[in-house]
Amino acid sequence: MKFLGKPRSQPAAFLPLCWLFLRILQPGHSHLYNNRYAGDKVIRLIPKTEEETYALKKIHHQFKVDLWQPSSISYVTEGTVTDVHISQNASRALLTFLQEANIQYKILIEDLQKVLENGNSLPTQRNRRSLSEYNYEVYHSLEEIQSWMHHLNKTHSGLIHMFSIGRSYEGRSLFILKLGRKSRAYKRAVWMDCGIHAREWIGPAFCQWFVREALLTYRSDAAMRKMLKHLYFYIMPVFNVDGYHFSWTHDRFWRKTRSRNSRFHCRGVDANRNWKVKWCDEGASVHPCDDTYCGPFPESEPEVKAVANFLRKHRKHIQAYLSFHAYAQMLLYPYSYKYATIPNFNCVESAAYKAVKALGSVYGVRYRYGPASRTLYVSSGSSMDWAYKNGIPYAFAFELRDTGHFGFLLPEMLIRPTCTETMLAVKNITMHLLKKCP
Ligand SMILES: *[C@@H]1O[C@H](CO)[C@@H](O)[C@H](O)[C@H]1NC(C)=O
Ligand SMILES: *[C@@H]1O[C@H](CO)[C@@H](O)[C@H](O)[C@H]1NC(C)=O
Ligand SMILES: *[C@@H]1O[C@H](CO)[C@@H](O)[C@H](O)[C@H]1NC(C)=O
Ligand SMILES: [Zn+2]
Repeated sequence: MKFLGKPRSQPAAFLPLCWLFLRILQPGHSHLYNNRYAGDKVIRLIPKTEEETYALKKIHHQFKVDLWQPSSISYVTEGTVTDVHISQNASRALLTFLQEANIQYKILIEDLQKVLENGNSLPTQRNRRSLSEYNYEVYHSLEEIQSWMHHLNKTHSGLIHMFSIGRSYEGRSLFILKLGRKSRAYKRAVWMDCGIHAREWIGPAFCQWFVREALLTYRSDAAMRKMLKHLYFYIMPVFNVDGYHFSWTHDRFWRKTRSRNSRFHCRGVDANRNWKVKWCDEGASVHPCDDTYCGPFPESEPEVKAVANFLRKHRKHIQAYLSFHAYAQMLLYPYSYKYATIPNFNCVESAAYKAVKALGSVYGVRYRYGPASRTLYVSSGSSMDWAYKNGIPYAFAFELRDTGHFGFLLPEMLIRPTCTETMLAVKNITMHLLKKCP
């Protein structure tokens, strides 16, 4: 079981120091992503009037900004908390513009490159770790996550089975872990996916954490034992494998898949707008260069198609669909695409209420919860709505920590608390499933 724990031995504690020295001695390797985010800023704007909203939309078009939240400029109206990432060069002009127009703003991150390098250890460091001392408190590359899955498939064959449901646009395997005590009896199941959006790294970290906790505690914890006895968990630690890989190698803030478009140079589709449920309507973009691009047709992305096929095939026994995103601190349920109330609202609402309460019981972190359309914004073609419409009665999307202080660059130090509290919410929802809905 050592594999599941964090290394605590002296030599392991000493290693980071050696790496630090290596880092100092090799200045050429000291910057991630070729230092491309040096001096970049993340600025928060909350338009108060119609004029300010208009100005903000103009800024979005005029300056090259990368929108962190909300995911599309079309969502911005009066009162919308809007976080934009802007390059160092453009930020000077932007700040001057804001000051002249007397629009209030707050600089959330002064130097994105610094936060990026302080929050995470360098990839070269983590590659030196052997699998037997797998560290769940750092972010892992796709290769590391896949070797971790292969390793668990070998060492925990009684509880874990790993298989592929297809290939990504760039040809990578789409791996799933099936977790649970093997049983001849019919078992219901819970689906969990992480990393639909590439830059939301805390998602894949949570999927891994969930598996570790399950394996570590199922002997000692009655609730976990019950869960693994009565249910299977299908866990997809990295949904958007190509995008996730790209966010490690090229652009830390990449969101979409990596598919090519025949008419535009922009790549990628928003894998959470590509599902066949009110596809490409409100809250999705038809333009391939946008971050919420819905794709040329529903399920155009091989990753979405593979998961949709799997869920279609297993929908009779899958009782819950859980999808992990960041950041906003919210627990969302259907609908995303319209304001109507779902038929089993009472059951779902009480599950969400309890889950959020359980989550907050550890560190006091507050989550908002409710239908995605009212709590976050209206979006069409989402995986959660699709799962719900296809007969999965409990469909949730988590927006994990934080609310913008670090945004997508949630420091590795916060992986443990974030995953610990989220774990309680997921267990609570799962236990709720095992009971009859009140
Ligand atoms: C930023 O400005 C400097 C000089 O003002 C220029 O050399 C550099 O190419 C610019 N960088 C970008 C990313 O536009
Ligand atoms: C997982 O292990 C089983 C044998 O226990 C093997 O048949 C299967 O191919 C493995 N999965 C992968 C993806 O390698
Ligand atoms: C779920 O959370 C509620 C609210 O915190 C709590 O009362 C209940 O005991 C929890 N149930 C489980 C099974 O953890
Ligand atoms: Zn997301």
